Amino acid sequence: MTFTVANATAADTPTVEHLLDLSFGIDRRTKTSYRLREGSHAVAGLSLVIRDGGVGIAGAISFWPLAIGEEGAPALLLGPLAVHPQRQNLGIGLALMHEGLARAKAMGHRLVILVGDEPYYARAGFTKLPRDLLQMPGPNNPDRFLYLELEPGALAGVAGMVLPPHRFAEKSAAFAIPHGAEGKEQCAEA
Ligand SMILES: CC(C)(COP(=O)(O)OP(=O)(O)OC[C@H]1O[C@@H](n2cnc3c(N)ncnc32)[C@H](O)[C@@H]1OP(=O)(O)O)[C@@H](O)C(=O)NCCC(=O)NCCS
Repeated sequence: MTFTVANATAADTPTVEHLLDLSFGIDRRTKTSYRLREGSHAVAGLSLVIRDGGVGIAGAISFWPLAIGEEGAPALLLGPLAVHPQRQNLGIGLALMHEGLARAKAMGHRLVILVGDEPYYARAGFTKLPRDLLQMPGPNNPDRFLYLELEPGALAGVAGMVLPPHRFAEKSAAFAIPHGAEGKEQCAEA
């Protein structure tokens, strides 16, 4: 079966939000993966839908920017991915993932992580992250913490806390030594 994957528009938002409530429950925003989206915008060009005359939106996916570890290594968070209960097991989820991942790679993104069922996401090449390599800003089941390298070796050297880029920037700014204060810092006890 083939599907037409389209860019999501603002007009799709209410239907997509309804689909996400249906798929993950109305308490979905309490999940740790939502802490990684707070204050961010989904990556432009990577919010995709498959429209459907019957149910409105048959499936939707989006990708979000992340910064990992001390260096703020860039990565993408895949999700949420949801397929309407009346359209599941038709290949829609995989079609959305394949298109999204192909677009992300073409845009130069190298690393994608997600929180989800490994038996399903393995179909798109995801595997479990090495235990304790990355930390989430909230509770997380390590068996559901997965990654995919869009470029071989992209995970090498990446470690530490996963944050939305604006929170990484705030953290870095808080720890930065103000310009001109370097000497004073060294002479603090003089
Ligand atoms: C998970 C989800 C995105 C899959 O989308 P889909 O379009 O129905 O899936 P596809 O058609 O691409 O793939 C179907 C195959 O994946 C399997 N599959 C679906 N969900 C799965 C899961 N959570 N774990 C393992 N396998 C799964 C199906 O059994 C089917 O297997 P088959 O090809 O051997 O028959 C969709 O079911 C959904 O939105 N579910 C609600 C949210 C949810 O449960 N998420 C859990 C994953 S994080």
